[in-house]
Parts: sequence; C-alpha cells; structure tokens
Amino acid sequence: MAMLAVNIDHIATLREARKGIEPDPVFAAVLAELAGADGIIVHLREDRRHIQERDLRLLRDIIKTKLNLEMAATQDMVKIALDIKPDVATIVPEKRQELTTEGGLEVALNKDHLKAIILLLHDGGIKVSLFIDPDMEQIKAAHKINTDFIEIHTGRYANAKLQSDQDAEFEKIVNTCKIAQKLGIGINAGHGLNYQNVKRLAQLREIEEFNIGHSIVSRGVLVGMERAVREMKEMVR
Ligand code: PXP
Repeated sequence: MAMLAVNIDHIATLREARKGIEPDPVFAAVLAELAGADGIIVHLREDRRHIQERDLRLLRDIIKTKLNLEMAATQDMVKIALDIKPDVATIVPEKRQELTTEGGLEVALNKDHLKAIILLLHDGGIKVSLFIDPDMEQIKAAHKINTDFIEIHTGRYANAKLQSDQDAEFEKIVNTCKIAQKLGIGINAGHGLNYQNVKRLAQLREIEEFNIGHSIVSRGVLVGMERAVREMKEMVR
C-alpha cells in the first residue's frame, strides 16, 4: 500500500498573504498526522515565499512521522539541511538552467554538482530523493550519482487535457517505475495530483509514496468552511 506524504507549503502561503501568524503550518502538520499522513513535506524556497526556517525547526521537533525537505541544490540549503536533519531531502529545481523542458531536475547536465550535494547530505545521515521527469536518461543519471529515491514529476500527467495525452504520460510513468525498481531506487511521485487523477497512479504498486499538497489544502479550505462560518456566526450573535 502506498504512503501519503502531505505537503503543507500552501498553509504557509495563506499565512504569508498577511505576514501574520495564521494559519500555522505546524498545526496543519499535526492535524495531517492525526488523519493518517505518513509524512510531512515542506519546500524551503530560496525566496522564502511560504515556508520559513522557523517552520522547519518546529516541524522537526514536533512531527512524529517523516520530515521531507524539498530544497534547491545549493550550499546554503545543504547547510540548513545538515542542521535540521530531515529524514529525506528532495532536491528540486528552482532555477531555469536546472530544469528539463518538462520541469524536473536536469540530472545528467548537473551530475557533478548534484553528486557532491548528495554526498554531503549522505554524510549527514540524510536520505536523498531527486525530483525528475519520467524519462529514461534522467533515471539512469540519478542512479549513477547514488540517489536513494527518485520522485517522479507527475505534472504533465496531471495537467493532460486529452485522454490520449494522459495515457502517454501514464505509460512513461509506468516505464520509469519499472526501470527504477530494477535499479533498486525507491520511487515517490507527486505534483498536480488531485482526488481524481491520483486513482490511476495509485494502482502502480512500485510507487512507495505520493507527495500531495495543493489539492489537499484546497479541499481542506472548503470542507472546513461551513464549520468556520458557523463558529464565527455564534461569536457575532
Ligand atoms: N513534489 C514536489 C517535488 C513538489 O515541488 C511539489 C510542489 O511543491 C509537490 C510534490 C506537491 O505538488 P502539489 O502541491 O501540486 O500537490
């Protein structure tokens, strides 16, 4: 059975819209765990547009499942990761030149740089995942530089408008899973997954963990709306 890791970045996006203290992503993480999340994911972006270092430190102390830190492959981020010690660091592209046309990491072209980053993280006892497109060249390159996991970028699958396009993307994901499994690399998947499009991927036994954020936070806002309004109505009465 696949695991679900919940990305709580957009709880922080809402907080940063007011630069205030709510909603707190740390509360959201605890609630996600109570609901059965197998892990919590945050992306500490270089521009700190949502998650802050304070969140990361509190999450490390408080959560009881796994902490997965999404990070750019920079020395500054490695320093933070070695200090916080997430269970897994997922390397994601933040700059244009680190991207393939589809949006995952360009591993082959940045092999030496990524290899050095992986070594530093491994020395700190942190497992590493590389966020890549479902592409043969990328998996092979990821394997060569000793990654523990890949996270398959499901964005193109998720955004496909035509059934035929979705089928083609699904096929690529299936093939990527087969190769990664043969190479002994752990397989995660995420980006753009929602309550509809996840069903088909959930049938792929090779995928160990789904990393999902935006659709869960979006649903959380709506399913919580009635209660929130009722409670405020009581207050103003
Ligand atoms: N995986 C990675 C590597 C990501 O960067 C993101 C987005 O932050 C996700 C998964 C989650 O994507 P979404 O918010 O679309 O579910």
